[in-house]
Amino acid sequence: MPAKQTAGSKFSPEEGRFPAHIGVIMDGNGRWAVRRGRVRTQGHLEGLKTAKKIVKAASDMGISYLTLYVFSTENWKRTAEEVGFIMGLVKQYLSAELDFFRQNRIRIRHAGDARGLPPEIAGEIRAVCDDTRDFAGLQVILALNYGGRDEIIRGIKRLLEAPPSGGEFTEASFRQYLDNPDVPDPDLIIRTAGEMRISNFLLWEGAYTEYWVSEKMWPDFTEDDLAAAIERFRGRERRYGGVQG
Ligand code: FPP
Repeated sequence: MPAKQTAGSKFSPEEGRFPAHIGVIMDGNGRWAVRRGRVRTQGHLEGLKTAKKIVKAASDMGISYLTLYVFSTENWKRTAEEVGFIMGLVKQYLSAELDFFRQNRIRIRHAGDARGLPPEIAGEIRAVCDDTRDFAGLQVILALNYGGRDEIIRGIKRLLEAPPSGGEFTEASFRQYLDNPDVPDPDLIIRTAGEMRISNFLLWEGAYTEYWVSEKMWPDFTEDDLAAAIERFRGRERRYGGVQG
């Protein structure tokens, strides 16, 4: 998909390939806090500040889609206090940033199982998704109660309930049963805190995605780090299993 270039974009089409869709595994909040002698939740608070900065930077750069891995289907194993704190941050983020989303024409979307979320969080997400539905700027996809395997299983269940009518069943047909079928596969996934793991993030969509791992803990990640990851991506060659052209 061609990159959308906005007035504030740092990248021109002549400069080469541009990632239309970036996914981010925001790892290291807990370690960031513990290393500073603080409680883990303080790391998430700082992590939210970083997320806001990166959303703004992505919007200014003219990126089309940004998927943030906020809370996985496995994160429920954390203490009730930590889970409650993260859910509170999500609610606070969505309500406090609504004016910012409107000013910057940012559309908010959700990936994951909304039925497993606390009703007030699911309601808030639904409201902000509806409110920003028509905005044509950056699309921020909040992966919340999200797991790649869970998304595929939920897709299969939807398929069994409403099978496609006729024709050959292909990868493209199955895609229609995923959470956000119209969102293109991520070109680049950034993971912070140095871990070399996928952690159940965008398993179907990430089949050919380029990965970039930063050693920085998420609260320390900056707009310059995002720009560096994009520059590095632009220097890589993607062959999709083929040979060099
Ligand atoms: C992973 O770090 C981070 C999370 C599970 C939570 C991410 C949440 C935020 C950044 C705040 C909310 C953001 C938005 C956009 C609403 P970790 O806790 O696993 O870190 P560790 O591996 O060092 O313990």
